Amino acid sequence: MHITMIGTGYVGLVSGAGLADFGMQVICVDKNVDRIQGLNRGEIPFYEPGLEEFVERNVKNGRLSFTTDLKMAVENSLVIFVAVGTPDDGQGKTDLSQVEDVAKRLAQAIDEYKVIVMKSTVPVGTNRWLKEMIQANLKKDITVDVVSNPEFLREGSAIEDFMRPNRVVLGSDSAQALAVVKDIYRVLYLIEAPFVSTNLETAELIKYASNAFLATKISFINEVANICEKVGADVHDVARAMGLDKRIGPKFLHSGPGYGGSCFPKDTLAFADLGKTLGSPARIVEAVIAVNRNQRARMITKIENAIGPLDGKVVGVLGLTFKPNTSDVRESPALDIVQALLRKGAQIRAYDPAGMDEFQKVVNDEKISYWKNAYEAARGAEALVFLTEWNEFRNLDLKKLKEALAKPVVLDLRNIYEPERVTDLGFRYMGVGRGTAV
Ligand code: UDX
Repeated sequence: MHITMIGTGYVGLVSGAGLADFGMQVICVDKNVDRIQGLNRGEIPFYEPGLEEFVERNVKNGRLSFTTDLKMAVENSLVIFVAVGTPDDGQGKTDLSQVEDVAKRLAQAIDEYKVIVMKSTVPVGTNRWLKEMIQANLKKDITVDVVSNPEFLREGSAIEDFMRPNRVVLGSDSAQALAVVKDIYRVLYLIEAPFVSTNLETAELIKYASNAFLATKISFINEVANICEKVGADVHDVARAMGLDKRIGPKFLHSGPGYGGSCFPKDTLAFADLGKTLGSPARIVEAVIAVNRNQRARMITKIENAIGPLDGKVVGVLGLTFKPNTSDVRESPALDIVQALLRKGAQIRAYDPAGMDEFQKVVNDEKISYWKNAYEAARGAEALVFLTEWNEFRNLDLKKLKEALAKPVVLDLRNIYEPERVTDLGFRYMGVGRGTAV
């Protein structure tokens, strides 16, 4: 089976390489010439564990290639996956210009039956609109079918999530197109991945509802954490005990500075906007968004309360990405928190294992310096703030950190450490929701 994958971002590149690994012949297309040239040299444009080797393996076995030539790719493929960016305007409206552009170029290129599979997260109704738009602009009287196939992979474990999905969602009005796409994912039947076949709108909504629900769990536990601080309870134990109830489950109950990344902030806003537009307000998700914003503000207050007015103070920051194992800083809580500290006059010494280049592109301030490890970032600082739970931060030499710091103050905003272990060494320790009100 020959497949075209349009878009070589996170979803496109991982899915393209993954489908090649399933045995398909995959051509990845991107209009970004530099990116395609880089991929042809074996350069992955972002950090994702294992992706470089995964891509290399499939290029070497002749099943994966990269081009800017959409027409050639489409002519050679029965199935065209679309994984282009669908950014938002910060208010919940999705910018579909990249999807629209692809639709126009596809209409020009298609001259026989094709199945178009949408992997990008798009507002409910987009896939139906896409089919009509391509159909209306085709040069010949032929049919195209559209399948909505939302992607649920997480950054940092994207390959594992693609190869071992919890479920595969396929939405379409065409039985023929559904059969074609099911055949592509046939290898997943062997590992008994459940398939959910629906209509287009249901598939689109499954993606938003899933992400909105996970974001809800996070905002919920963050509110519990805030109450824990008031009453002297430990959110870690509350979450563990809650999670042991099988109906609740232990995942996504880690309190911290709030969720970030390319999906949750955007998808929750889009879901709330959809509800508002339809006259069916999504009040829970609206609250989830507000709680998440407020959580970042609370973290800034926490730091101020711990070390006093920030003007002229040196603060060490560990972790800049929105989560570990990625170089992605999109909507990272660290962006808001570090920028607020800078505005309040603090000097920042920062370290992140993979995100410093990306962070520097967004935050360009002479009051922030970047260091090559945690101990350097801590040097001379009045407090050390953990903003991302990278594994290498879990087992730092705390004595060495204490020597490096000007004052032994730790703000563990990801609850990485056991409070006693840190306080026993003479630190002042503040986590999130761990019985210490600051
Ligand atoms: C998410 C979804 O999990 C994935 O299914 C979807 O396709 C894309 O969005 P991702 O953005 O890569 O994936 O990261 P995820 O691991 O879900 O974390 C999102 C954010 O929530 C991160 O900022 C993370 O730190 C935060 N988070 C997660 C918490 O604060 N607490 C938790 O318990 C879990």
